[in-house]
Amino acid sequence: MATSFKYANKYVLITGSSRGVGRLLSEYMIQNGAVVIGFSRGRPAYECENYHHISVDIGDPKSVQEGFAVVRKLVPALHILINNAGVATSQYAMIMSPESAQKMLTVNIFGAFLVSKEASKLMRKNKWGRIINIGSIMSSLEPAGGSIYAATKAALISMSNVVAKELSSFNITSNTLALSGYPTDMMRALAPDVLDGVINSLVIPRLTMEDDIFNVIDFLASERSSYITAQTIYLGGIN
Ligand SMILES: NC(=O)c1ccc[n+]([C@@H]2O[C@H](COP(=O)([O-])OP(=O)(O)OC[C@H]3O[C@@H](n4cnc5c(N)ncnc54)[C@H](OP(=O)(O)O)[C@@H]3O)[C@@H](O)[C@H]2O)c1
Repeated sequence: MATSFKYANKYVLITGSSRGVGRLLSEYMIQNGAVVIGFSRGRPAYECENYHHISVDIGDPKSVQEGFAVVRKLVPALHILINNAGVATSQYAMIMSPESAQKMLTVNIFGAFLVSKEASKLMRKNKWGRIINIGSIMSSLEPAGGSIYAATKAALISMSNVVAKELSSFNITSNTLALSGYPTDMMRALAPDVLDGVINSLVIPRLTMEDDIFNVIDFLASERSSYITAQTIYLGGIN
């Protein structure tokens, strides 16, 4: 991928940076000039000058507080937050364990809330910010077997829209990018027939490609998108 400077002088926090979509976005942002801070429990298998990893469990308020104490020492500002960390261990409600359900709630919604809360305090200082929440088409498709996962992703959209109202006067936008299937550990854990059913119900029935994600991230993060907030973009189209 060619290097550009569209994110030069931008400090970007990405949760769930150790693998999957978070890793993809970390590399993309760095290749385009950003300084990235990554939050996840495990470390990604890459290192570079413009990537700072902080080991954070986003579902744990103390861990998030400690993570932000490091962020404040590391970087002079925070411009973009991508709330990407997530877990999907959904099952049919009758057989899903309470622990599994609780974990999804804790990471996918409570964790995103904790990180948004701290990140917005930093963004407010510069009166500029972009919060991008990584949602899922599952919140709209509501497939059988997806009860808690779909609910957490629907809650993420609600939270994003409320946060957008609370932060609009600080020139901070908050939007959601709802992904369809993108090949990661999470997607590969889905039963193939469930994945096929979900993908085939999209207006454009195919998996997400890298550039589909970059395109929407660039749009939502752009200086020109200051009037785009409280929106959800569903990749592949939902009808
Ligand atoms: N891939 C898809 O098809 C798809 C479709 C729709 C939506 N999404 C959404 O896209 C996002 C990324 O998913 P993915 O496919 O890249 O999943 P993934 O490959 O399983 O990666 C999940 C990431 O979240 C991090 N994470 C999990 N629990 C965490 C915690 N408690 N604290 C901090 N980080 C935590 C993981 O890091 P550690 O384990 O190292 O902490 C990892 O970096 C998720 O929000 C997911 O719901 C994905």
